[in-house]
Amino acid sequence: MPRLGLLLALLIASVPAFGQDRRSDEHSYAQPDKVRIRDLALDLAVDFDKRQLSGSATLGLEWVDPAQRDLVLDTRDLAIAAVEARNGKRKFREVPFVLAERDERFGSKLTITLPRQFEQVRIRYATSPEASGLQWLSPAMTAGGKTPFMFSQSQAIHARSWVPLQDTPSVRFTYTARIRTPADVMALMSADNDPAAVRDGDYSFSMPQAIPSYLMAIAAGDLVFKPISARAGVWAEPQTVDKAVKEFEDTEKMIEVTESLYGPYRWERYDLLILPPSFPFGGMENPRLSFITPTVIVGDKSLVSLIAHELAHSWSGNLVTNASWKDMWLNEGFTSYVENRIVEALYGKPRADMEFVISRNGLLDQLKDLPAERQVLVLPMRGGSDPEDALGAVAYDKGAWFLQFLEQRYGREDFDAFLRAWFDTHAFQSADSDQFLAFLKSGLMAKRPGVVSEAEVMAWLTQPGVPAFAPQTASPRFDAVDAARASWLEQRAAARDLDTAAWTTQEWVYFLEGLPEVVDAERLVELDQAFRFTGTSNGELAQRWYPLSVRSGYFEARPAMSLFLRKIGRRKLVMPTYDALSKSEEGLAFATQIFAMARPGYHPITSASVEALLARARAAQKTAD
Ligand code: BES
Ligand code: ZN
Repeated sequence: MPRLGLLLALLIASVPAFGQDRRSDEHSYAQPDKVRIRDLALDLAVDFDKRQLSGSATLGLEWVDPAQRDLVLDTRDLAIAAVEARNGKRKFREVPFVLAERDERFGSKLTITLPRQFEQVRIRYATSPEASGLQWLSPAMTAGGKTPFMFSQSQAIHARSWVPLQDTPSVRFTYTARIRTPADVMALMSADNDPAAVRDGDYSFSMPQAIPSYLMAIAAGDLVFKPISARAGVWAEPQTVDKAVKEFEDTEKMIEVTESLYGPYRWERYDLLILPPSFPFGGMENPRLSFITPTVIVGDKSLVSLIAHELAHSWSGNLVTNASWKDMWLNEGFTSYVENRIVEALYGKPRADMEFVISRNGLLDQLKDLPAERQVLVLPMRGGSDPEDALGAVAYDKGAWFLQFLEQRYGREDFDAFLRAWFDTHAFQSADSDQFLAFLKSGLMAKRPGVVSEAEVMAWLTQPGVPAFAPQTASPRFDAVDAARASWLEQRAAARDLDTAAWTTQEWVYFLEGLPEVVDAERLVELDQAFRFTGTSNGELAQRWYPLSVRSGYFEARPAMSLFLRKIGRRKLVMPTYDALSKSEEGLAFATQIFAMARPGYHPITSASVEALLARARAAQKTAD
C-alpha cells in the first residue's frame, strides 16, 4: 500500500526530533509569525531623581500575515501615554490600545489595534522606578561617590520593563537612539559608542546589526574611556579605569584567537563597561559593550575567563542566537566551550583544565538536587515557566561538556571547522536545538559515519545527568592541591608550611571546595592566619570561605562577611553565604539583618533571589518548630 507508506513517511518526518514542536517562545506575548519588528528608534530622557526613563519608542514593522491587524507587544510596569501609527513620513495619528492586567512573570501584554498594516508605530511611555531591568544607584553606591549611575540588564525577559517590544530572542531588529541625561553624565548603549564622545548630556547611538531584544542595553554615569587596542577598550568610573585596563589587557589577544578559530569579529568595536559592585551578574554580553562586574579585577588576571566568556558570545549568542530560552544551552553551553578554548590558547592547557574541573564539579553538585526533567539540555515546552529556570550549570557546563565530547571524537581540526560553519551559516539568525541537531547530522555525522552515534548525541541532549562516556579531564595541579589539603587535614603539615607559593585563584578555589562540610573552628583560625581568607577581596574565595565559616561556627569571620554581603551585589557571590546562614535560627536572624541593610544597594534580581531564599528558610524553620 504505497499511499499508507507515504503517509507514514510524512508522519515520521513531521515528528520533531525532540518529540514536540518547540518552535514558539512561551515567554513572550508577541506573535512574530504575524508581524515582526525590524527597526527601533528610541528617544529617551534619563531622570535620576524620578528613577525613570521617559520618551518614545518607534517600531518599524514587517507584516508577515496579510490578515493581521493587531500588534501585540511585551511590556512590564510601563506607563503608556499614547500610541500612534503612520506610513512613510506621513503624520502620526493616534490608535487605540489595551494594556492587559499584569502577569507576575511576563508583565502586561500590550495590544495595539490598527486600522491597517502601518509601517511604523510610536509608543509614548515612561518606565517605573521599580523596572525589573534597570538599576538606579545613588552616588554613594559608586566608586566616585558624586554622580548617580543607572544601568540595564535585559536578559532574559527584562527588556520589556524599559522598552515596549517583542521581547523574544526569535526576533531581531536594528536600532537607533537619542538619549538625554544631566550634562555631566555619560551615556552608553549596546551600539556604536564613540570613545571620543563629548560629554554634554545629549547622545546619539546607532546599532546597524540586527540584535534580539535581550541585547538592548543602556548605562549612564561618570564614565570615562581608556583604550586597550585600536578596537578594544574600557569604559569605567575614573577611579577604576586604570586597574581595569591592566587586568583586561589581553582582550585584543582574546579577540584575535577567537577570530582565528571561528571567523572575523563582526561587531566592529569590542569595549568593556565596568559596573559598580551591585551588578547582579559576572558579565553580560551586550553587543560591542560587554557589561562586567568589578569583582573580577583581582590584580593577577586570574578571573579573566569571564572576559573570554562574554567575548565568545559575540559568536555564540549574539551572532547565532537561541530562538527561545529553553534552548539556552545553544548560547551558554557553546560560549562556555569557546571560553575554555580562548583560555587554553592564551594561558595554557593546565589553566583551562583547572577551569573545566571547577565548573564540572559545580555541575555535578547542582545535579544532586535538580529534578531529572531539568537536567536535560533540550528543555521541553513548559507554559508559564520562568526562563531563569534554564539558568544553571546544565546549560553552561553540560553544554560545554557535550561540545568537548564532539571535539574529542572528531578531532580539533574537523570540529573547529564544523563550529565555524555553524556560526557562518546561521549568522544574525536565531536557531533552536532541532536546527543544531539537523546541522550536526547532515554535517559531521554524515561525513564521518560511525564516530559518534545518534544514541550518544540524544543521551547528551535529552537524558538527565552526564553520560557515562563523557570525556574526563585530569589536572595534575589539582592533584597537588589534593595532596596538600590531605596533609593539612590529617595534621601531617601545618597550614603555613604547605607549598602554596605558586597557587592561583583556581588552586585556592579547589582547595576550599575539597574541605569537609564542617571544619573545627580552631582549625579555621589556623588556615585564616596562614592565608587570610577572611576579608579577601577575591569574591571567588569569599563565596566559598564564608559559607564554610558559617557551617563551622567560626564567628570571627562575621564582621568581614557582613561587609562583603553589603558591598557586593553579584548574585552568584552572595547567595551561598545567605544559604549557609539560613540553615540555623541564629544564622537566619543574622542574614535577615544584613539583607535589610544591603537591600537598598542590591539589584532587583539579587534582592528577589535572596528574598525567596530567606522566605523558604523561614517557612522551613516554622514547620520544624
Ligand atoms: N548571558 C549571561 C548572563 C545571563 C544569563 C543573564 C541568563 C541573565 C540570564 C552571561 O554571559 C554569563 O553567562 N555570565 C556569567 C559569567 C560566566 C563566566 C559564566 C555570570 O554572570 O556569572
Ligand atoms: Zn554567558
